[in-house]
This record gives sequence, C-alpha cells and structure tokens, in this order.
Amino acid sequence: MAKVKLAQVSDVPEGGLTMREHDGRQILLTRVEGRIYAMNDTCTHRGAPLHMGELGTAGSPQLLTCPWHAAHFDVTTGKVYQDTPWATDTETYPVEVVGEDVLVEL
Ligand code: FES
Repeated sequence: MAKVKLAQVSDVPEGGLTMREHDGRQILLTRVEGRIYAMNDTCTHRGAPLHMGELGTAGSPQLLTCPWHAAHFDVTTGKVYQDTPWATDTETYPVEVVGEDVLVEL
C-alpha cells in the first residue's frame, strides 16, 4: 500500500465532502470533529457518488446519506447503519496529515 497525497488540508473543510480520483478510484474525503477521513466514494448499493450526498444527518456528524436511495454510511468506519440494509459496508483508508498535505494510504 502506498501513501498518496490527495489534497491540502484546506480542501477538506469541517463537514464538507470532497472527491479525489487516483488510479481509477474515486475517494471521498471529509472532516468530522477536526479529523480527516477517507472512504470509497462509490455507493455499494447502485454506485452513486457519495460526495454528492449529505453529511451530518440524523444528528450524527459522521453519518453520510447516499444521494440516490438514502443509505446511511458512517464515514469513520465505512459501515452501513442497520436502518438501511440495502447497501453494504464500504472501504475506508488510513489518513495522515503532514503539514498541509493530506496523505491517504490506498
Ligand atoms: S446508490 Fe446509494 S443507496 Fe442506492
């Protein structure tokens, strides 16, 4: 696995959803309570771009709602909440911040 610089810290604001492509993969970057997370951007249900979804629904800052059929993903773990079982868990990737650079282990 290699660490890849995908963004600057300023590209990933608190509660924002940013997508980056690397080697044919789409990676979602977001920041929750000051910490940056990276997750597969493609919904496991029908392939929606998750960065077009909404973060922070249902009172949980880490809960992302898919824009197409409203599956709920925890961006800190990639797990689907039990209330939307039509989607399955997705991948997350370790993130390291070095200075202003956001490095993701892909
Ligand atoms: S494509 Fe995401 S819930 Fe259907």
